[in-house]
Formats: sequence, structure tokens, C-alpha cells
Amino acid sequence: MGTISCVSNFIFLSKNSISPSSQPFFKKPIPIFQSFNFSSSSLQVSASSTSGKAMVGENDLLIVGPGVLGRLVAEKWREEHPGCQIYGQTVTTDHHNELILLGINPFFKETKTDQKFPYVIFCAPPSKTPDYAGDIRLAALSWNGEGSFVFTSSSAPYDCNDNGPCDEDTPTVPIGRSPRTDTLLKAEKVVLEFDGCVVRLAGLYKMDRGAHFYWLHKGTVDARPDHILNLIHYEDAASLSVTILKKKLRGRIFLGCDNHPLSRQEVMDLVDKSGKFDKKFQGFTGTSDPLGKKLNNSNTRKELGWEPKYPSFAHFLGVSE
Ligand SMILES: NC(=O)c1ccc[n+]([C@@H]2O[C@H](COP(=O)([O-])OP(=O)(O)OC[C@H]3O[C@@H](n4cnc5c(N)ncnc54)[C@H](OP(=O)(O)O)[C@@H]3O)[C@@H](O)[C@H]2O)c1
Repeated sequence: MGTISCVSNFIFLSKNSISPSSQPFFKKPIPIFQSFNFSSSSLQVSASSTSGKAMVGENDLLIVGPGVLGRLVAEKWREEHPGCQIYGQTVTTDHHNELILLGINPFFKETKTDQKFPYVIFCAPPSKTPDYAGDIRLAALSWNGEGSFVFTSSSAPYDCNDNGPCDEDTPTVPIGRSPRTDTLLKAEKVVLEFDGCVVRLAGLYKMDRGAHFYWLHKGTVDARPDHILNLIHYEDAASLSVTILKKKLRGRIFLGCDNHPLSRQEVMDLVDKSGKFDKKFQGFTGTSDPLGKKLNNSNTRKELGWEPKYPSFAHFLGVSE
């Protein structure tokens, strides 16, 4: 138990050696044609020495950006497809050890490969690349066109900043108005050109991550308290993404939110009321920054037959609104 067995011509390591002391091995980018297979008792490394390509299974998944959301997608995907191979593409090798322990076969963005996968999800944020649309294009080229290609975008492009209602049919801001929305819209355009699907997500959160946690640690925030924002728990964003992946849809845009918009002040009042955080939030001081929107994704829910596990931030925290 607990060994990495090398099927072809690779390494033999004890599973216990997957530790910081194994840095020399894990710091190297792992070529994509090695496939990692976790079972309860062993980690099996196999490779095709003749073609240089792994045998790709019909439910194998490539996650570009296996961060917080990507790892939850991996977990849910594996629950539904036991025995599948899951690969994770990153910009650095910093988290490769963690990914291996999670059963995700990591490889470095710069690794050149013509390997294609039936399922590809792009869930990397735009912050670490000068060419987000270019990265999406590369991800799309890794899709073999069979299962699904999904991009986790943001609800930011919907053109509404008066705290008014907004849904899947609300028009998007025109290109040229803001660099942030330009980046997202250009990335989405590439996805749609490849017949992939987009899911525009509201603000992601879990207990120790998200807007509430960031504001709590800042203490005082120079933004207006009455701006309405929209949320979706990381687990729900993952279940929605997996639902879309499984449907094998083409060229569609969906919206991911919990249908419980809250003002910034209401979010922090709930945090306070929950008694679940040590820190005390001081307040919002802004008066003139833009307002937000109230998202509703009833159409997405109806079409996909999806509902969130956490219907509101208050429900997640276990307090009444
Ligand atoms: N946070 C929000 O409120 C929010 C709202 C709407 C939509 N979204 C979208 O939701 C998705 C998931 O967000 P998250 O919070 O889970 O992200 P995250 O945890 O910050 O994801 C980080 C992961 O992405 C990898 N990565 C970053 N840039 C990459 C690139 N250009 N190519 C390949 N890999 C890259 C990182 O690699 P390393 O390990 O090398 O660092 C890491 O594995 C993103 O698409 C994000 O834009 C987020």
C-alpha cells in the first residue's frame, strides 16, 4: 500500500515520499504523457512510450487552473466518473505536490503537447497572464470536441450598474468601456468560436475566501455600502460547472448565482451576526462609486435542472436575513 508503481519506464517512489523533501522530483514540470492514477492504495504512473501520448479515456478531464474552484470540480467529476484521469494545468509548479496528492496530474503551462481531452474546463483567473484570450485558445485546442469545453467567466460584463435587475438576457457592456470586461468578453468570444460554453459566475465565496473575508481583514473599505453584489458558494459553482460539462452543450452562456443579492453592508452585517469570525469589520466609507446589480439565473436553473446547495449567504452562515 502507498507506493507509486511505474507501469512503463518511470519512477518508483514510496507514497510517503510525496513531501517537501521530494522537491527535486516534483519541482520538475511533469510531461503530460505521464498519466497518474490514484486508487485508495496506490498511485500508478503509466505512460505510452511508443506514441508519446497517454491513452485518453472517454471521461478524462483537463482543468486549466486547478485552484479553489478547479479542485472542487475535480472532486465532483471523480465522484461521477470513478477511474477517470484528471489533469491540471498551472502557470507555476508551486502547487504540483498538492495536486498530485489530490489525484490531479499537474503539468506546467509551458509544457508543449498536442494531447487532446474530451472534457476541458478553463477556470483560471485573468490575473496571471498578459493574454487571457490566448490562454483560452490554447485550452480550446486541447479539447478533442467530444465531451465539453467550459469557461468559468464572470457576471461582470452584464451592463447594469444601478442596483437593478439582471439576468441571462441582459446585454453586456460594449467593448472599450473597461479593460476588465474587455478581457472577459474577448475570452468568451474565443470560447464561443470553438463552440464551448461559458458560465458567468457571481462572486465566489467559502468561509475563508471571498469578498466578506477580504473586507473583514481590511477593516475599513473605501467603497459604498449600498452597492448590491451577488454571490455563489464555491461548491455550487463547481456543481454548476460539472452539470454543464456533463450536458455536452455547444456555444451556450449560463449564469451562476444564488439569487440572493445583498448590499455590501448586508453581507458584513451577516458576517457580524454569525459570530463565526474573530475580527470585527469597521465599515464602508465610499459614497460615489458605481452601484451593482441584482442577478437572477432562473433560466439557467430551469434549463439545466440545477439548484445550489447554499441558497443564500445567510443560509450558509446559519443565520436569518
Ligand atoms: N473569485 C471570484 O469571485 C470569481 C468571480 C467570478 C468568476 N471567477 C472565475 O472563477 C474561476 C476560478 O476562480 P478561483 O478563485 O478558483 O481561482 P484560483 O484559485 O485563484 O485559481 C488559481 C489556479 O489557476 C492557475 N492559473 C492562473 N492563471 C493561469 C493561466 N493563465 N493558465 C493556467 N493556469 C493558471 C493557478 O496556477 P498556479 O498553481 O501555478 O498558481 C492555480 O492553479 C476563474 O476563472 C475566475 O476568473 C471568480
